[in-house]
Amino acid sequence: MDFITWATSPWGRAVPIHIAWYLIWVALIAGLTFMIVHAIYVGMIAAPKKFTKNDSPEALAAIPERVPRHSMVARAFHWVMAIAMFVLLFTAFLPKAGIKFNWVAYHWIAGLVLTASILFHVIHASFFMDFWSIWPDKIDLRDARRRLLRSIGKEAPPPDRFAKYPLENKFYHAVILLSGLAVIVTGLFMMKRVNTAGIFTRNPYLFGDMTWGMMYVLHGLAGVGLIVLIMVHVYFGIRPEKRAITKSMVFGWMSRDFYLEEHDPQRWAIEKPSTTREERG
Ligand code: HEM
Repeated sequence: MDFITWATSPWGRAVPIHIAWYLIWVALIAGLTFMIVHAIYVGMIAAPKKFTKNDSPEALAAIPERVPRHSMVARAFHWVMAIAMFVLLFTAFLPKAGIKFNWVAYHWIAGLVLTASILFHVIHASFFMDFWSIWPDKIDLRDARRRLLRSIGKEAPPPDRFAKYPLENKFYHAVILLSGLAVIVTGLFMMKRVNTAGIFTRNPYLFGDMTWGMMYVLHGLAGVGLIVLIMVHVYFGIRPEKRAITKSMVFGWMSRDFYLEEHDPQRWAIEKPSTTREERG
C-alpha cells in the first residue's frame, strides 16, 4: 500500500501529489489505540507514583496556596494556537473524509494565525520566559532511568519530583515543535499556489512538479501526525490526575498541594506574583 498518491506529469514522469488519505484513518486509530493502552496501563498495571521529598520548613513556608504557573499572555497564546490548530485539522481533513465544503480560505487564514502565534511564542519564550524550562536536563534523564527500572520491578531510588515540566511533556513539546514547523514552512510556500486575495502573489511555477509534490506530501504527513499528537494532548488534558495542570492553563495557577506533590521547589522556583496596585500603594 503506497502512502503517497502519484500522478503523471505532462512529460510522462510519475510525480507525488499528496499523501494517501487513508493515513487519516491510520492516525485516528493510532490515537485511539494509544488512549486505550495508556488508560489500561495506568488503571490496572502501573504502581502509584513515588517521589523523593526533602523540603525544608522554610521552603514549605514560602509556598503560597495558589502557585502561579502560566501568565495571562502564555495562556492567551495557548488558546489562540489551540483554536487555530483545530480549525486547521477540521478544514484539512473533513473534506477528505467526505464532508465537502469550501475549506481552502478558512484553512490558510487559520494557518496564518497559527504562524503568527508561534512567532510570538518563540519571542516570548526566548526573552520573557525561562527558555530552558522546556528542554530535558540531567536530572530528567537520571530520573527517567530510575522510573524505568522501578516500573519493571528493579531496585532504584525514587525519582525527584519534576521541575516545571515532566520529561514526557518536554518530549511532546519537541515533537509538536518539529511537526508544527513542518506544516508552517511548507504551508507558507503552498500559499503561492492558492488564491489569497492578493496577500501572497500567486506563483505556481516557483518550484517544479516534483518539489511541489514532495512539499504537499510533507505537509500532509506532518498534518496526520498532528492528528495523533492533538488527540493524545486532549486525552491527557482531561485525565483526572492531570486536571490540575489543565486548570492552570485556564486560571493561571495550581494548588499548593498539587505543586508540592509533583513539583520540586528546588527545580522549579515559584515566580513572585507581580505586586498588586494596592500593595504598591
Ligand atoms: C495543523 C496544521 C495543519 C494541517 C493538519 C494541515 C493539513 C493540510 C492538508 C491535509 C492539506 C491538503 C494538502 C493536499 O491536498 O495534499 C493542506 C493544504 C494546504 N495548507 Fe495546510 N495544514 C496545516 C497547517 C497549515 C499552515 C500553518 C498553513 C499556512 C501557513 C497551511 C496552508 C495550506 C495551504 C496553502 C494549502 C494548499 C491548499 C491547496 O493547494 O488547495 N496549512 N493542509
